[in-house]
Amino acid sequence: MLSALARPAGAALRRSFSTSAQEMPVFPLKYHNQKNNAKVAVLGASGGIGQPLSLLLKNSPLVSRLTLYDIAHTPGVAADLSHIETRAKVKGYLGPDQLPDCLKGCDVVVIPAGVPRKPGMTRDDLFNTNATIVATLAAACAQHCPEAMICIISNPVNSTIPITAEVFKKHGVYDPNKIFGVTTLDIVRANTFVAELKGLDPARVSVPVIGGHAGKTIIPLISQCTPKVDFPQDQLTALTGRIQEAGTEVVKAKAGAGSATLSMAYAGARFVFSLVDAMNGKEGVVECSFVKSQETECTYFSTPLLLGKKGLEKNLGIGKVSSFEEKMIAEAIPELKASIKKGEDFVKNMK
Ligand SMILES: NC(=O)c1ccc[n+]([C@@H]2O[C@H](COP(=O)([O-])OP(=O)(O)OC[C@H]3O[C@@H](n4cnc5c(N)ncnc54)[C@H](O)[C@@H]3O)[C@@H](O)[C@H]2O)c1
Repeated sequence: MLSALARPAGAALRRSFSTSAQEMPVFPLKYHNQKNNAKVAVLGASGGIGQPLSLLLKNSPLVSRLTLYDIAHTPGVAADLSHIETRAKVKGYLGPDQLPDCLKGCDVVVIPAGVPRKPGMTRDDLFNTNATIVATLAAACAQHCPEAMICIISNPVNSTIPITAEVFKKHGVYDPNKIFGVTTLDIVRANTFVAELKGLDPARVSVPVIGGHAGKTIIPLISQCTPKVDFPQDQLTALTGRIQEAGTEVVKAKAGAGSATLSMAYAGARFVFSLVDAMNGKEGVVECSFVKSQETECTYFSTPLLLGKKGLEKNLGIGKVSSFEEKMIAEAIPELKASIKKGEDFVKNMK
């Protein structure tokens, strides 16, 4: 079972996030004397995810400095966001020469840089382009903010996390507790779809999603859902398939214009806020994320994690699963292992 710690934290976080806009005016006062001074960088800030993610971060009282990096358009995005009446200082950085200054002093770096899928593509089809982008940006983080928490959104996450870890190892600054593959959108989707089927408020539903972030490696643990829900097997199979292919649902609907951006921005912001809350000393903050792991025979795996001041504090593990879920875990392992190896080999073969 997902730890009892997870449920109130997850629900409370989602509640506070969804009401933050209405409460905006009181935030700066309410949080004035607290440690809400996170310096956050977004790399790939001008993109479909990067822009709304930066907006949500700018809207948060947890963030005091927001540095935006991209190879295009960051001066405009930063100028635009900087007029919003929240205290986070926003600055744009354009091109590799300005990347070091964007990163220096950062507590958290979020990376949605890279190309998204088009209809007919798998996340692995993005490997050739995105592996180089992530490796380059990870190298800059290792050099200029080695202590920061690194949150990778760029796909294929099942390979870009091993890539980031290997790059940090090469620079001698690797801390497995600080490198996170952002899989939060899978949890957000699972909560929404379960709520729709059961007529519940999605903000009160909490489904852990484990494994990886591609097709069959996305494993929703409906048996651990809070509140407890039951589905006949045919409905459970269809629901699980919909969660696994929800990204493709958006890719198809966008018909060539990219993949999920707005829901991903929401999910990315939720993950960053959880992390910053935990870094600020809030207890019982739990999120699932694709991290270095000893929970299965895969060296990286997503499970619910207790977050703390220094990042991953405790891996809460897979917990009790149904036979249906156990079978999915077994089936996901070969694909996950191959994606992890592909990422590690990429860095080994880099000049
Ligand atoms: N983890 C998830 O759940 C999830 C969900 C949706 C999308 N994604 C992934 O997020 C990534 C971004 O998606 P998007 O829709 O925002 O794409 P996008 O094309 O709209 O934006 C990508 C941005 O990255 C920038 N970029 C490219 N190369 C760069 C570099 N070397 N340095 C800095 N910035 C660079 C581009 O200029 C662009 O602004 C894709 O890889 C996509 O597959 C992940």
